[in-house]
Amino acid sequence: MTTANSLNILVVGSGGREHAIVQTCLASPRVSKVIAAPGNGGMAGVVTCFPVSAEDVTGLVALAQKETIDFVIVGPEVPLTLGLVDALEAVNIPAYGPRKAGAQLEGSKVFCKDFFARHHIPTAAYASFSEVEPALAYLETHPAPIVIKVSGLAAGKGVIMAETQTEATQAVKSILSEGAFGESGAEIVIEEWLQGEEASIHVITSGNDALILPPSQDHKRIGEGDTGLNTGGMGAYAPAAVVTEEIMEQVRREIIEPTLKGLKADGIDYRGTLYAGIMLTPQGPKMLEYNVRFGDPETQVLLPLIESDLVPILLAAAQGKPLPRPIKIRDASAMVVVLAADGYPQAYDKGAPIHLPEAGAPFTKIVHAGTELNKDGALVTNGGRVLGVSAYADSLREAADRAYALAAQIDFEGKYLRRDIGHRQLRR
Ligand code: AMP
Ligand code: GLY
Repeated sequence: MTTANSLNILVVGSGGREHAIVQTCLASPRVSKVIAAPGNGGMAGVVTCFPVSAEDVTGLVALAQKETIDFVIVGPEVPLTLGLVDALEAVNIPAYGPRKAGAQLEGSKVFCKDFFARHHIPTAAYASFSEVEPALAYLETHPAPIVIKVSGLAAGKGVIMAETQTEATQAVKSILSEGAFGESGAEIVIEEWLQGEEASIHVITSGNDALILPPSQDHKRIGEGDTGLNTGGMGAYAPAAVVTEEIMEQVRREIIEPTLKGLKADGIDYRGTLYAGIMLTPQGPKMLEYNVRFGDPETQVLLPLIESDLVPILLAAAQGKPLPRPIKIRDASAMVVVLAADGYPQAYDKGAPIHLPEAGAPFTKIVHAGTELNKDGALVTNGGRVLGVSAYADSLREAADRAYALAAQIDFEGKYLRRDIGHRQLRR
């Protein structure tokens, strides 16, 4: 019974984002039981985890039925693009996240760019190709620096920022002739290289109603000063002051509202998260891409800022109902610092024992990403991004102090963290 105050919830996924969602669900008075699939070491400490892959749609539907689940919250994008929400709705289980049709916004960059063009949403100039010759011809008239993207999902690796013409032509050939990205690279987008600072804006929508969350900024590079290889995200903070109220208003008017209208006009009943990746260019905010789920690690700073119970908000969104208002957003700043395994995002070791502090500190949380309980029940590392420590406070400086103080109390062999999360704002 999805209207009762005793919901059974299944959270799908295994990262820090999903652990943060599990923690939030456990704190909700509306919830009686939470389970996760497949979960991780941190989730296993607080809820029952079932070894069903986040990409096993049939298995997840069967699990939800067997465990009398009332509501499913889907963390990652892959199950959304595979139609998990459609499959759950077919057996009358509401699920948070867009159906397969809406998930194309992230699942296909060509679809997303064409959507922007159709609905006059500001974005980098582009063209899309599935044949190598016309793509190379386009590069003749649109020389490097230029950006080449595989259209399909590529776990964050499908964007090539080509600084030279040689890099650009090589990228096109390796993707379109040599199949470097397999099916994900059957089509590519070639687009203008935008200059500016990046920010993310998350929106929770039920289709007709929408809640715009505070803007955030993440740190994708492994090294301090935003240098080195790209990662899934080494830390994040919110609100990001670089997105002023004026810019936020422009984003709402020129990007978010046309998106919600455009989805309707295209016949897509979109319910779930819209995560807008935005470049703040000298010509105004422009869309880089949409993700169709919460960011990781952005979730770990956005959820602490939502003072209202998140569960009824997500449930209403999933059911296409007006979001329950008022929704209270804390007048505070939040930061998350990711603790990674040395070597990440390249090869790294797994299985190192993790030592956590005994007692939690106020206004902070530890979320697990790449952890597991080994066969002896000990908590060990099991991924590149191992843990995240988040904190909120009246100011970003205090939030940073709280997060870093907690990070210092956590120990595992090869622990690596960036010491400069939030540096742009802290310096300003
Ligand atoms: P995407 O997956 O499209 O968000 O791209 C991943 C990252 O590549 C973005 O967060 C940006 O840092 C960078 N990027 C993508 N497209 C562009 C662009 N057109 N101009 C400049 N940077 C870009
Ligand atoms: N933090 C980037 C992402 O979730 O895609």
